[in-house]
Amino acid sequence: MNFSESFIRRLKAAENVTVLTGAGVSAESGVPTFRDPGGIWEKFKPEQLANFEAFMRDPDFVWNWYQHRREIMRDVKPNAGHFALAEMESIFRNFNLITQNIDNLHFRAGSKKVTELHGNIERNFCISCRKFAEEIDITEKKVLKCESCGGLIRPDVVWFGEMLPMQALQFSEQCASNSDVFLSVGTSAEVYPAAMLPIIAKKAGAYVAEINLNPTAISWELNETICGKSGEVLSELVNYLKENKN
Ligand code: OAD
Repeated sequence: MNFSESFIRRLKAAENVTVLTGAGVSAESGVPTFRDPGGIWEKFKPEQLANFEAFMRDPDFVWNWYQHRREIMRDVKPNAGHFALAEMESIFRNFNLITQNIDNLHFRAGSKKVTELHGNIERNFCISCRKFAEEIDITEKKVLKCESCGGLIRPDVVWFGEMLPMQALQFSEQCASNSDVFLSVGTSAEVYPAAMLPIIAKKAGAYVAEINLNPTAISWELNETICGKSGEVLSELVNYLKENKN
């Protein structure tokens, strides 16, 4: 892999590094992405599944779909890209990982400083009393009811038309503004506000690189696009840094 000289120079000197990840980072684990050919949004319309009105219209249908995704996610393992990102935490003085993924694979790979912008499929809460439902049976096809108040239980993921968790978003923007280097990995950068983060970082003076199979909607605004599989590119990068970081 050829990393550019400017990228390597900035990374070697960097103290504050932020990485934004998207579905592409989990693709090598076998989790389907959303917008690639054969991706989730080719088979389903987001409005059928990923919004509150759809859930209220047919709670069992939406619940069942998330149960299916939970089964997929239970059976997959973190890949080399997740592990490389976990290692980066100890390479830079201030490293933050911001993810749009809800699959919990960054935590399972050992990352500790993870900010989840779109929630986590392993958590669920009651739409009436907001209480979290611990331990659920992921084979149960019918939507669960809250043990305290009988309200419907939904997955703790951000649906279309919903606000992102405010604290997570504010922290992410702060990280982006304070970055020396910002990496946008495995995301089509089509969903806002997450897609703003690389731009915020660039405007604030960070070196912003993207790692993706292909250039994306925002590539032209960034310093460089490294084309390749995130598992391979990130492993190579972390191996280089372990030997060469200032
Ligand atoms: P997308 O499906 O939009 O984009 C996945 C990106 O990963 C594409 O740009 C692919 O080229 C790239 N990709 C695929 N395999 C890769 C690999 N092995 N290595 C590197 N890159 C790879 O997924 P996101 O950008 O994550 O939101 O989508 C953002 C949000 O849209 C999701 O969080 C979800 C969805 O609607 C919510 O559910 C709120």
